[in-house]
Amino acid sequence: LSNGLAQTPQMGWNSWNFFACDINETLIKETADALISTGLADLGYNYVNIDDCWEALTRDAKGQLVPESKTFPSGINALADYAHEKGLKLGIYSSAGVFTCQVRPASLFHENDDAATWASWGVDYLKYDNCFNLGIKPIDRYPPMRDALNSTGRKIFYSLCEWGEDDPALWAGNVGNSWRTTGDINDTWASMISIADLNDKWAAYAGPGGWNDPDMLEVGNGGMTYLEYRSHFSIWALMKAPLLIGCDVRNMTAETFEILSNKEVIAVNQDPLGIQGRKVNVTGTDNCLQVWAGVLSGNRFAVVLWNRCSESETINVSWDSLGLEPATTVSVRDIWKHEDVADAVGSFGVPVDAHSCEMFVLTPKLSYFRSIYLTRYK
Ligand code: DGJ
Repeated sequence: LSNGLAQTPQMGWNSWNFFACDINETLIKETADALISTGLADLGYNYVNIDDCWEALTRDAKGQLVPESKTFPSGINALADYAHEKGLKLGIYSSAGVFTCQVRPASLFHENDDAATWASWGVDYLKYDNCFNLGIKPIDRYPPMRDALNSTGRKIFYSLCEWGEDDPALWAGNVGNSWRTTGDINDTWASMISIADLNDKWAAYAGPGGWNDPDMLEVGNGGMTYLEYRSHFSIWALMKAPLLIGCDVRNMTAETFEILSNKEVIAVNQDPLGIQGRKVNVTGTDNCLQVWAGVLSGNRFAVVLWNRCSESETINVSWDSLGLEPATTVSVRDIWKHEDVADAVGSFGVPVDAHSCEMFVLTPKLSYFRSIYLTRYK
């Protein structure tokens, strides 16, 4: 959607994956504080997004959405001010249906009123869910909210959460800043890898202004191992997925923080070209040895060697699979170890632990022929 936002995938935090309905204004403020004090905000995680359950069970007498008075007594406007004072942005949630998924009032047929309410509160982001949608097609329910947000005059990031219904990559490019390509993630390896594969199919449709959304991060929520979470984060970064943290950032382990704060992996996600990396080669039993790769600015490549098998195995990436001349010398940087590891020609490989990945940035040097040409004729 060309509203000037989402030039790179959105980054921030969302309440749902860890807290579900157990949310209140203190949590939102403490999360904002933690994003700042941990340094995550400086790394780009700047949206603080409130998911379902912020609302009172009914609209007020004027028909306006209102926050639940017990949990959000100061109101959403105060939270937006709090976020803005810290240089952060505030996100809100509703559904393109008659109720939200947790059966609170929602915004189908109230698009203009609700968008105006959020704009008046200083909201910067809307996640727009798909529950209680009366069986109306997404392509008819999502554009009215785009127009309503646009007519407020406030820049509001528009995140479509239609769970991949009707293949949004095919129609949402001029509707939203991101669109969900799948159902909900859960905090398991099986869920994470199946979602990665589903999202891969739509790689060609992502780019600045509109991104495929394979759902929010589960890193730090306890259902996967450290190496599995590292795979999750690496592949989400490579796929130009939104990086929305879904754990309790007030109480992260050092390992969780190490994963979420890897600057070089974040830089792959936020690369200005905005080309979604994809699965480029598979080998092994049930295709469990995988090479995922994508083009970066500066004629570089990001490569993830991903081992989904149950034993450690060596995985190789060939220049051929990247569309590079086999004779090219390429300097290889390991962006989990933060080290330049090799100058390689034709291919590069390393052993990768089970359920882990290694991630590299490849920078081709001048080819042999071009170097000679330059020496001879410069
Ligand atoms: C379904 C969405 O896909 C989730 O991310 C979350 O927003 C829940 N609804 C909230 O009820």
